Amino acid sequence: MINPLGDSGAAPRDRMGRHVRDLRVSVTDRCNFRCVYCMPKEVFGKDYQFLERKEILSFEEIARMARIFRGLGVNKIRLTGGEPLVRRNIERLIGMLAAIPGLDLTLTTNGSLLRQKAQALKSAGLNRVTVSLDSLDDTVFRRMNDVDFPVTRVLEGIDAAAAAGLAPVKVNMVVKRGENENGIVAMARRFRGTGHILRFIEYMDVGHTNGWRMDDVITAREILGMIDAEMPLEPIDPNYPGEVAERWRYRDGSGEIGLIASVTQAFCRDCTRIRLSTDGKLYTCLFATTGHDVRDLLRGGASDGDITSSISEIWTRRGDRYSEIRTANTGSVKKIEMSYIGG
Ligand code: GTP
Ligand code: 5AD
Ligand code: SF4
Ligand code: SF4
Repeated sequence: MINPLGDSGAAPRDRMGRHVRDLRVSVTDRCNFRCVYCMPKEVFGKDYQFLERKEILSFEEIARMARIFRGLGVNKIRLTGGEPLVRRNIERLIGMLAAIPGLDLTLTTNGSLLRQKAQALKSAGLNRVTVSLDSLDDTVFRRMNDVDFPVTRVLEGIDAAAAAGLAPVKVNMVVKRGENENGIVAMARRFRGTGHILRFIEYMDVGHTNGWRMDDVITAREILGMIDAEMPLEPIDPNYPGEVAERWRYRDGSGEIGLIASVTQAFCRDCTRIRLSTDGKLYTCLFATTGHDVRDLLRGGASDGDITSSISEIWTRRGDRYSEIRTANTGSVKKIEMSYIGG
């Protein structure tokens, strides 16, 4: 990629020599699902205090951060949440971000609102979407989203996204032992030959409310074995350095799948991701325990140059490699929830 800063070498590197390339922006901490592994109802119930409006970054503030990050070498922005499509007028933000040249603009969604929103998102300038879908079995799916949401609506959302040209559509399945592993092969069969890219994610110990145990993880190797036994696969090269998904294609040419082995094969070495939370804190790792506030800078009259320097300093100090050093005893650390920091 062309370094937008020229050859001056001004694009910051962290302590492990990594650049910042991928900005993930959580646009809301709210979600209309209560997935058991992400926002369990016992914690995210009626009395849960979500962020107040004034605490949340405005679209103008997010777009300003995006422009600043573009200047630091970021070439991909992913909108996440919570559920990004529950934020009102998200199309307006997408339009503002699409006006920044040189960005791959994408969004991770639970798909529940895609059927009605896909076309508007595409028209606003979104390039593609990733849809989370943990089971095709309606009973299992309703149990996992825990709000009784039917799987057919998500499948219609995926179709609508593809029809609108938000392609390739990626479908993410988090596999949790005892919940949905029986549906792995059915999922592969369903999406093979559709042009959509199905990715299986090892269940991770993000946040501190999901009660993660290593025993709950079905490893990427196990998943590969199950699919390969029926539909033979072969490995293919990554699309870009640091891609989190390991790519495999069906030997008969009917498409590809991805395995995201964040637990058993950490990919920290090439991690170029930074996260901006809904309330304007930067997190240099998905498993960070503290963030760096930029909202005060945005609202306190700091110039773009001041904010750029501040981010460079944060990035230069970064030494995160949580997944490489994770221990089985992860529960003792109070980590940030995924629904707040963004997947
Ligand atoms: P594209 O290649 O642009 O489609 O995106 P991606 O591969 O980054 O995919 P996506 O953002 O959908 O990430 C897929 C999943 O990988 C996330 O939902 C997380 O579960 C996991 N993941 C993504 N980034 C990280 C990371 O930095 N650390 C860890 N440990 N897991 C991650
Ligand atoms: N482990 C792995 N993936 C997770 N996601 C949410 N929580 C976890 C977890 N504990 C995934 C969602 C979605 C993306 C935003 O992150 O399923 O695909
Ligand atoms: Fe919502 Fe996604 Fe979390 Fe499920 S995984 S509760 S859809 S943010
Ligand atoms: Fe990057 Fe942290 Fe994930 Fe490692 S654990 S890949 S450093 S976000």
